Amino acid sequence: MSKSRIGNNVFFSMPVTLVGTVVQKKVNFMAVAWVSRVNAQPPEIGIGINKTHATAEGIIANKAFSVCFPNRELMVRTDYCGITSGKAADKSKLFKVFYGDIKSAPMIEECPLCLECQLTETVEGKSNYFFIGEIKGAFADDTCLDEGAIDPLKADYLLLTMPDNHYWSLGEKLGDAWKEGKKYHQPLDSNMRRYTMKNVEMTLEGNILTMKVDLSKEFGPSSSGKTIIIASTEGNVAVEGHEEAKVGLNVYRKKS
Ligand SMILES: Cc1cc2nc3c(=O)[nH]c(=O)nc-3n(C[C@H](O)[C@H](O)[C@H](O)COP(=O)(O)O)c2cc1C
Repeated sequence: MSKSRIGNNVFFSMPVTLVGTVVQKKVNFMAVAWVSRVNAQPPEIGIGINKTHATAEGIIANKAFSVCFPNRELMVRTDYCGITSGKAADKSKLFKVFYGDIKSAPMIEECPLCLECQLTETVEGKSNYFFIGEIKGAFADDTCLDEGAIDPLKADYLLLTMPDNHYWSLGEKLGDAWKEGKKYHQPLDSNMRRYTMKNVEMTLEGNILTMKVDLSKEFGPSSSGKTIIIASTEGNVAVEGHEEAKVGLNVYRKKS
């Protein structure tokens, strides 16, 4: 596939957020798309904030901030927060504000998801700070919850692409992360073959036959009803290229 070199200042699909701070005793919200999870335990989030923004001043002063995720209804007000500095206008009345435990991390009632964060680390770049904060509280709208977890389509998050600078909404769900990859099998060397039967994966490399069985699987009771089938070649099968060699395997456990 041929590739063209394009400008380096490019990145794909960022979440659009509103970062809440208190700047000189006034609540302030700024549009922020340079957002990333940076640590699993404790859960931490990082935001890239230009040093000139009022938000940077507020985070340095209070060591706290919020990250709120607006939906499409809030797009216009979100964009306003991205083109108007708290240094020039009062943005404190744009949204209904609420607080968790951190009183210098104002959050937005209208946003489907809000995180209150305590500053843990500041990385100083040439033009931006990368503020890392531990998520101390996460607040989701009940209307967006599905069995306790947030449904991204109900939350109707906004995304940003740059440098075309467009807002987007989520498209269709394509698959399950951490699961789809299990369907993939590496292409085999020309002298290697792989066959899969009922939970028996046989790999033949040269003269070496390897059999793999996932013991966590079950395929219901055997025909006698006394055992539960875990894996089976379902009779004797020939090994391709070595037809004289036959394999018959049943893996089972006693019915409890
Ligand atoms: C959609 C959008 C995303 C933005 N993302 C960022 C960002 O990640 N980092 C940043 O420094 N500025 C970003 N900006 C620009 C700031 O939001 C903007 O300069 C804002 O006025 C700063 O507000 P403040 O001075 O009140 O903090 C973004 C603007 C828009 C419209």
